[in-house]
Amino acid sequence: MLSAIPTLCPTSQKPTCVTALDVGTGTGLMAAVLAERGFIVNAIDTCENMLKAARRRRPNVAQFSCAPAHSSSMHPEAPFDLVCAAMLMHGLPRAYRRQSLIDMARAAKHAVMIVDYAPPCRLLTAAIERLEGSFYQDFLHEFPEDLSGCFADVSTFLLNRTCALYLGRFA
Ligand SMILES: C[S@@+](CC[C@H](N)C(=O)[O-])C[C@H]1O[C@@H](n2cnc3c(N)ncnc32)[C@H](O)[C@@H]1O
Repeated sequence: MLSAIPTLCPTSQKPTCVTALDVGTGTGLMAAVLAERGFIVNAIDTCENMLKAARRRRPNVAQFSCAPAHSSSMHPEAPFDLVCAAMLMHGLPRAYRRQSLIDMARAAKHAVMIVDYAPPCRLLTAAIERLEGSFYQDFLHEFPEDLSGCFADVSTFLLNRTCALYLGRFA
């Protein structure tokens, strides 16, 4: 899924953005994609075990540190040219998701990029996400409004049958 992201910023072109924050980095997959595209990457997560795995598997792609999504703007390197989150938002309850988005927008100079589920609702995904206790079905309905509440301009790029890249900009 993440392999589709670089098509938005081909390697032949130097990115106009230079610094990025990956929020909810997990094992650092998105951080690695950003680093490959030439970004200087910082990455945060609340789970120390995930951060340990990220540092072990991808030692040179980012500075990994422990912090929650809703305090992205408090990161010592903030603001960042680009702030990203992959497969984080659908796992957050709406009030906290909105709080996090608002703070991620505060932490971003140019744009916030979210990779996450997109409609239509898929039964198998709904079943799996239900077992994981996520907010998949509510997220599909609520997220467009969450984004438009934060950003003047929102673009959506479908990546595959289940996921999209959402780009929120300020003007
Ligand atoms: C589904 S994983 C996605 C990981 C990675 N972004 C990817 O696409 O492979 C969600 C990650 O978000 C982290 N997370 C959950 N709540 C968070 C929060 N409030 N702030 C920061 N990270 C959080 C989890 O620890 C987990 O590593």
